[in-house]
Amino acid sequence: MAGVITLRVNGVAHQMAAEPDRNLLGVLRDELDLTGSKYGCGEGFCGACTVVIDGRAIRSCHTQLSECAGKSITTIEGLARDGKLHPLQEAFLNVGAMQCGYCTPGMIMNGYALLRRIPSPTAEEIVRSMEGNVCRCGTYPRIIQAIKQAAETIRGDHKAKPVTQAKDPAHANAAAAPQGTVQGAVQ
Ligand code: FES
Ligand code: FES
Repeated sequence: MAGVITLRVNGVAHQMAAEPDRNLLGVLRDELDLTGSKYGCGEGFCGACTVVIDGRAIRSCHTQLSECAGKSITTIEGLARDGKLHPLQEAFLNVGAMQCGYCTPGMIMNGYALLRRIPSPTAEEIVRSMEGNVCRCGTYPRIIQAIKQAAETIRGDHKAKPVTQAKDPAHANAAAAPQGTVQGAVQ
């Protein structure tokens, strides 16, 4: 019979049955109603399900619940504070770093772990860190730009600009020609 574990998600403790075949993504979405983390490939390849555990970006579709006991889990829903978006969220909106938006929570959570680890990443460090996250809409150049802008904001070099809508969403990513990977965005 499964035991009970405590999951600490976005600062809130939850008692959960630690059934061996349950993955974290399913629990977040189906039981805790935290649907920001997305199901993409389900096999650890696309990064749509990325959350941060004890400061490290992990693929929640490939993480067993039992591995999460006693750890601190942050999801996209946990980034805003007092009704104010995290600088990464603001930067993604400011630069229009999404088209359909399906990859965006995972991108932001991977970027969040990166900026905790490296507050002033170079473009190469951003690319290296983000290259496992797939954006099928090819918004990689803007994702890189957004992470740089958020790093500046967090360091205090740059005041976040108010969020403005792109005039024509259909062309918002015209500069970001679809490319297969984030690596392709800098080649
Ligand atoms: S859904 Fe988890 S890596 Fe693709
Ligand atoms: S914005 Fe559509 S998958 Fe990235």
